[in-house]
Amino acid sequence: MQRSRSRVVGILTSGGDCPGLNAAIRAVVKPAISNYHIEVIGIEKGFRGLVENHSRVLHLPDVSGILAVGGTILGTSREKPHRIPLPHGKTVDLTDRAVETYHRLGLDCLVCLGGNGTHKVAYNLMTRGLNVLGLPKTIDNDLAETDITFGHDSAVSTATEAIDRLHSTAEAHLRVMVIELMGHKTGWLALAAGVAGGADVILIPEIPYDIQSVCNNLKERRRRGKWFSIVAVAEGAMPKEPPRPGAAATAGKDDKKSKKKDKSLTRLPETSIGSRVAQEISENLGIETRVTVLGHLQRGGVPTPFDRILATRLGTHAVELLAEGKYNRMVCVKGAEVTSVPIEQVAGKLKTVPLDHPLLLSARQVGTNLGD
Ligand code: F6P
Repeated sequence: MQRSRSRVVGILTSGGDCPGLNAAIRAVVKPAISNYHIEVIGIEKGFRGLVENHSRVLHLPDVSGILAVGGTILGTSREKPHRIPLPHGKTVDLTDRAVETYHRLGLDCLVCLGGNGTHKVAYNLMTRGLNVLGLPKTIDNDLAETDITFGHDSAVSTATEAIDRLHSTAEAHLRVMVIELMGHKTGWLALAAGVAGGADVILIPEIPYDIQSVCNNLKERRRRGKWFSIVAVAEGAMPKEPPRPGAAATAGKDDKKSKKKDKSLTRLPETSIGSRVAQEISENLGIETRVTVLGHLQRGGVPTPFDRILATRLGTHAVELLAEGKYNRMVCVKGAEVTSVPIEQVAGKLKTVPLDHPLLLSARQVGTNLGD
């Protein structure tokens, strides 16, 4: 009797990194090899590695000791096969090459660890006949069809610690400290860290802010003898009013446009929305302000225990799907359960903070100003 060949799967990490990626890779590789005799090939540097066939077979020692390590042993990139950048700002569609690599490696399925962009690409590859599975990672927690993504809890923890540290210096100097947190399209991270850190004002992209409302809140705090305040701002927050002509701080909607046009490799914090909010507060109230842009500190470092557990549950669930030959799904969390949904339900859908979200309501209940 002819023995059926053992299965081969590829695994890659794509998009911005986050704590928990290595925990998830380990959770796929270990059971795949040990329990199901599935060979796992690591694709390096995200989808660019699939286009260029940068890959290596992963063995058990490769995933030993990585549970608590930040970053990703596979490397990552934001590049998408259908839009690979060329010099001079042009792009080229190399999806065919990605499909070729998949077949050349003899893959039965490609496991993609990523956020929104990654799941869109995975869906495109699925429409080209490849089998794919998605695992939801992003510090932003903005992926549809899952209650939570791994990486988010670690980022909330880092951001909360930063807010805690700002509190003592804010109080010592009687200043308004503005902290800008990641989240270019959604405010999950700023909201969670803001509530956990007791920020007095939280500004998120879902609720365009009115600077007068913010200032009234800060004035009222002063009236109650609170001479310092913390303002947590998501990087994608935007004002209700367009910026005044000639205003020095140019973040918000206009800044997004200029970021798109700016093809340089460096993103400068001076143009941040945090700086704009701080400037508006000091101009309106004559209060001394300082700005902290927490930036990539939120993506680095070790995953929290919560993220290690979550990544392990999601990764091992993915292997169960592989073992059953159930493809083209994203593993997700619904309530207490780890389950999966068809990938087309996820691709291209952003999970924003609903305006009636319980955490927004709780924030309001404890007197937090949300800029509206
Ligand atoms: O991964 C999403 C994210 O964390 C966003 O919140 C942020 O805008 C973005 O990454 C920045 O990432 P990079 O500097 O790697 O492009």
